[in-house]
Amino acid sequence: MHTDASRPQLFRTVTSLRAFLLPWRRNGKRIGFVPTMGALHEGHLSLVRASKAENDCTVVSIYVNPTQFAPSEDFARYPRNLAGDLELLSKEGVEAVFAPDDTEMYPPGFNTWVEVRGVSEPLEGQCRPGHFRGVATVVVKLFNIVQPDVTYFGAKDYQQSLVVRQLIRDLNLPIELRVLPTVREPDGLAMSSRNSYLSPQARQKATVIWKSLKLAQELVEAGEKSPREVIRRMEEVILSAEGAMIDYVALVDPETLAPVEVILGPTLAAVAVRLEGTRLIDNMMLCPKG
Ligand code: PAJ
Repeated sequence: MHTDASRPQLFRTVTSLRAFLLPWRRNGKRIGFVPTMGALHEGHLSLVRASKAENDCTVVSIYVNPTQFAPSEDFARYPRNLAGDLELLSKEGVEAVFAPDDTEMYPPGFNTWVEVRGVSEPLEGQCRPGHFRGVATVVVKLFNIVQPDVTYFGAKDYQQSLVVRQLIRDLNLPIELRVLPTVREPDGLAMSSRNSYLSPQARQKATVIWKSLKLAQELVEAGEKSPREVIRRMEEVILSAEGAMIDYVALVDPETLAPVEVILGPTLAAVAVRLEGTRLIDNMMLCPKG
């Protein structure tokens, strides 16, 4: 437990956040940054705790970024709970929260986009065209606003972390990227702000995602080399939940996200499933023995 709970300072504008961060930077303090869309849970808080442990000043952004949602997606009903989020962040002793509104981030006339090729194209890129363009654009803006030394992302959104790694490299951003493990519910379901959409029945069914990933791990550890066979068995588990719809079940190279032909080294199993219209993603690194 943290006993030094003091409310984080809340900033609504770029100018006010920059004014707050300037003395920290001038004094050579290390700034850690955790970008989020709010509705915070233990997954987000694990990133916050890592930043608190490794930096002098931790900045958390809370911004539901409209440009990464397609018109048909859940932007309007995405959970928003700033008061609750601030409560959680004060327990962690976070120094600053940046919660801009849309005109602060995208003022009239905004017209520049960041497009990462390659790793953004398969998987989520196929299912959600334009999604990573919105993510990359807002992440670069946030990086430029906060100018952190280190930033923290979750392996839950594995492909997103590769997109961010690529843009940090390609745009020569002087920022260290840390990717931390997925935090799960006791039954294995990856924590997600979107889990709150699930009815009790769908919440129960959602455990098939974790079960399918565990099965993939067991098969690969037992020597299975065929991605087709592993995918077939994973799909069987997922479709055992009535009404589950598979967007993709893929076994891919962890660096390029290209499909693997034979499982010989570390391979990423990535899953996107829809349950009652709620889209859930998860992934696991599979490592063959030896
Ligand atoms: P959001 O979905 O709020 O996630 C913020 C960060 O928390 C991401 O790095 C995500 O991977 C991480 N995270 C989410 N669930 C997690 C879990 N169960 N375990 C560990 N980490 C988890 O990702 C976004 O927001 C947005 O795309 C953003 C990067 C903020 C740009 O808008």
